[in-house]
Amino acid sequence: MTDISYDDEHRTWLIQLPSSAYGLGVSADGRVVRHLHWGAPCQLADLVPLAAAEHAGRRTGKIGWGHEEPAEYVPWGGPRYDEPTLKADFADGTRGIESQLTGHDINRDATAVTLTLDLADLAYPLRVRLHYHAFHDSDVLERWATITHTGGSADGPIVLRQAHSANWWLPRREHWRARYLTGGWASETQPAQTMLGPGKFMLESRRGVTSHHLQPYFALDDGTATEEAGEVWGGLLAWSGSFRLVLETTPGGSVHVSGGWNEFDAPIELAPGEELSLPVFAGCYSATGQGGLSRSWHDYQLRHVLGGPDRPKPDGGFPPLRPVLYNSWEATGFDVTEDGQALLAELAAGLGAELFVVDDGWFTGRRDDHAGLGDWVPDPVKFPRGLDPLIDRVHQLDMGFGLWIEPEMVNADSDLYRAHPDWVLHFEHRARSERRNQLVLNLARDDVADWVFGTVDGLLRRHQIDFIKWDMNRHFSEPGWPDRAGHNPERMWVDYVRHLYSILDRLRAAHPGVAFEACAGGGARIDLGILARSDQAWTSDNTDAWDRIPIQEGFSHAYPAQAMVCWVTDSPNPLTGRRLPLSYRFHVAMSGTLGLGGNLSEWTEDERIEARQLVARYKEIRPVVQHGRQYRLASTQDGPLGAVQYRSADGDRIGDRVVVLAWTGVRHFRPWPTRLRLTGLDPEASYRDEDTGEERTGASLMQLGMKLPDDLDYASLLVRLERLG
Ligand code: DGJ
Repeated sequence: MTDISYDDEHRTWLIQLPSSAYGLGVSADGRVVRHLHWGAPCQLADLVPLAAAEHAGRRTGKIGWGHEEPAEYVPWGGPRYDEPTLKADFADGTRGIESQLTGHDINRDATAVTLTLDLADLAYPLRVRLHYHAFHDSDVLERWATITHTGGSADGPIVLRQAHSANWWLPRREHWRARYLTGGWASETQPAQTMLGPGKFMLESRRGVTSHHLQPYFALDDGTATEEAGEVWGGLLAWSGSFRLVLETTPGGSVHVSGGWNEFDAPIELAPGEELSLPVFAGCYSATGQGGLSRSWHDYQLRHVLGGPDRPKPDGGFPPLRPVLYNSWEATGFDVTEDGQALLAELAAGLGAELFVVDDGWFTGRRDDHAGLGDWVPDPVKFPRGLDPLIDRVHQLDMGFGLWIEPEMVNADSDLYRAHPDWVLHFEHRARSERRNQLVLNLARDDVADWVFGTVDGLLRRHQIDFIKWDMNRHFSEPGWPDRAGHNPERMWVDYVRHLYSILDRLRAAHPGVAFEACAGGGARIDLGILARSDQAWTSDNTDAWDRIPIQEGFSHAYPAQAMVCWVTDSPNPLTGRRLPLSYRFHVAMSGTLGLGGNLSEWTEDERIEARQLVARYKEIRPVVQHGRQYRLASTQDGPLGAVQYRSADGDRIGDRVVVLAWTGVRHFRPWPTRLRLTGLDPEASYRDEDTGEERTGASLMQLGMKLPDDLDYASLLVRLERLG
């Protein structure tokens, strides 16, 4: 069980998590909160020699050319040259912070324990509070800081030039390998890795959103950890705007990771009395390889992040299972009409879909992507009777009704932009660059934020909508806010995201029955911050099943299968032209939250029959996939075979079940590996294949493996096992 203990004599704290520990202490003069340990479980007494070694280092003056003290939070000031966590300017021109610990507090409740350390600047009205929040059921440690201007108007503002959420120190190792997630539009979240050398390796977004390019995610090991063995340390930032993670190797060979919102172009003027709470930068240690780390992330997010704290978690503390949805985007593009959608809804219901989502194109003036964004009323030509008759029809078919919206955006050709050209991000005397013919509304403005809330709230009040797909299809440019000239217009970078969160929080509170899907031109805004306000996320606009495999594999390193929406679409795929069997497309999409996205009216009767059977099969394995423990058995990064296994959670509600999904690509020169070894089973127990009836022991399945088809390119397989006895 998680707990926090304090050693008053040596002034050390130990955070004990279920399978790991985190230790810190404070220097005798109270000036440095020092990192002592992050890794395997240990006792409070084990920190004493570590703290003594740090004290000794300080006394003997080792701090100098090479040694950077492992400060839990690195305020810039004094002879320190590594990446700071906090940098501030005071009104009299002093730049640099000198602070001291002024208090600490440990809070325990039924779900979590929290350690708070209070630091105050020695001469200026700046208070920094460091928070460490650990749930009883998770090895994820949430860290963030709160920065407060404790002075009055005579002190003037304090300008924060950098305000990262947390700084994670790694233990000493010979080498460090960093794994991260990268890609682009239609190729998001692919796993990548590099060895760290002296200097900095930086992961960042300057785009206003999390980005397709890089995830606010890292995993570090000494180069020897494998999928299921070895020590791995990881981090995820809960921020949906520009971010920066700096993985630094100091001259003395220490490695630390500082991260938070990106300070590029974004100084924050903290007014007297103002308090700023920085986003959570969560960390997690695993002694069971990459797989153990990602399973910890999954479990933590299912229990404590996905859907937010206020939505019910009836299913053993997990969010409700997500329905199988149908989305019309690839079928109809902008050509959305009441009759066309009703036909698709009937076909989708016939296949077993539980939620029907009308995508882009339903609102006034939206013939293509040149016009309409901002004017969120149903197009009178496409929906002469409004949206309600279609919504009623969808409900009659026993499906929920979902609607796409992109409320942060505006086309220049819209009534909204004609009325409020000043509402978009822009600089005076500079171009207003359009991407996809659209401009970004400045959500940091109170009037714009109110308008966005009112618009979506109004739609939800007027219509029986069960689901919102909230899209965002461009990055920021010309990030100006002329109305705030001279008053810290750069706050936009941060206040935009804070307003987005508060709009979503208010909408979710006002409409508790409505589910939300996070989307940004595919997966450009997926992170812990948006997932805490969403029930699922659109992974990528690339629905080609073979391309999807590395995207989904990378996604699984950071986020749970339940959050990962995957559609089965047409063959040939509209984006890539690749032809793949229907069962293959299903098997790839069944590894997350299943959706259908093809033009069902063009599917043959045989395809519809097969699809209906596969949707039914998915519903049956859904609890294991969406809530189970996931094991990556084989990666298409290493060879022609990819495979993932799910095992129903320990002490679970549905019996001990195992689901395996495997896919092959195109052979080169030689046949596939013909056996797939499972993992995480009870070696003594017997497991029955639910399709063939064959019974095997866990030991046999893990050591000898399952037979795979060996004669086909693009072959796939779904195996369901049930533990006997
Ligand atoms: C980008 C999304 O990722 C797609 O699924 C679709 O909703 C389009 N936008 C619509 O414009």
